[in-house]
Amino acid sequence: PTALAGRHFLKELDFTAQEFRGLVELAAELKAAKRAGTETPYLRGRNIALIFEKTSTRTRCAFEVAAADQGAATTYLDPSGSQIGHKESVKDTARVLGRMFDAIEYRGDSQAKVEELAAHAGVPVYNGLTDDWHPTQMLAEVLTMTEHGTRPLTETAFAFLGDARLNMGNSYLVTGALLGMDVRIVAPKSYWPAQEVVDRARELAGASGARIMLTEDVAEGVRGADFVATDVWVSMGEPKEVWAERIAALAPYAVTMDVLRATGNPGVRFLHCLPAFHDLGTGIGREIFEAHGLDSLEVTDEVFESPHSVVFDEAENRLHTIKAVMVATLA
Ligand code: CP
Ligand code: NVA
Repeated sequence: PTALAGRHFLKELDFTAQEFRGLVELAAELKAAKRAGTETPYLRGRNIALIFEKTSTRTRCAFEVAAADQGAATTYLDPSGSQIGHKESVKDTARVLGRMFDAIEYRGDSQAKVEELAAHAGVPVYNGLTDDWHPTQMLAEVLTMTEHGTRPLTETAFAFLGDARLNMGNSYLVTGALLGMDVRIVAPKSYWPAQEVVDRARELAGASGARIMLTEDVAEGVRGADFVATDVWVSMGEPKEVWAERIAALAPYAVTMDVLRATGNPGVRFLHCLPAFHDLGTGIGREIFEAHGLDSLEVTDEVFESPHSVVFDEAENRLHTIKAVMVATLA
């Protein structure tokens, strides 16, 4: 058994830096083994439940392919097809699924729900995204930064621009703080993570040596950054009506070529957890682009399609990192 056998994976704050780095290292080993055709299936005969109360492409597919690669089976419970949440409580669902499955992934709105599932399931529970945290995504961010960075993580700087109040902003801040990185949150003050999250990050930084900056100034925030990251301006579960206020507040924080140039780093890399609104031509988000007379939102197509962009490496890394979580907690 590994050091993380039997553990849940609910939020970054539950892990030490060493444990978190260990998962990223395991993911890199599993990635190399898959590439070399030498992967060992550690999860033969295991069954994993995948509960999605919100939609997903990457997270669902990563869990399913990772499980298959490792010899495990999955059952997908879609956003509306099971009894969870409407006909049956989270607590009862946890006790039922815990009798049948070896682990349970949950994506939904409240962190309290995934924590309650974990409290009653009796098997490891993995957070596949809540409104507050996206911890499996952070393993992929860190693996991608390790692969594309030119310095050790503790000397690596990243800037997250845009809506930093929710899962991605919170998770980036806390993960960077945990790992001793140079973390910049660049957004209007009202879009910064909640004060209690900032406080936790500062505590972690005290131990790890992380540098933490929260700023409204784009030039100051991105200067010297190795990585510039962003996320959608309206997250799953938010009403369409908030687009107008988001665009008004966040337009100056869109990732453009000027923003990348402002880093002063010609090798700067662009990160986005995806899905992204970047190209009017695809028709995705057309009503939003057209209603506001814009041809890009959180990132321009020019940046997204440029050699700076490592978003598809990042997306692939969801597979290897999610596999690492399952292997570490179940093998
Ligand atoms: N990045 C991410 O979580 O993507 P999905 O919503 O497609 O799972
Ligand atoms: N903040 C986004 C992340 C998607 C992976 C959302 O919650 O919709």
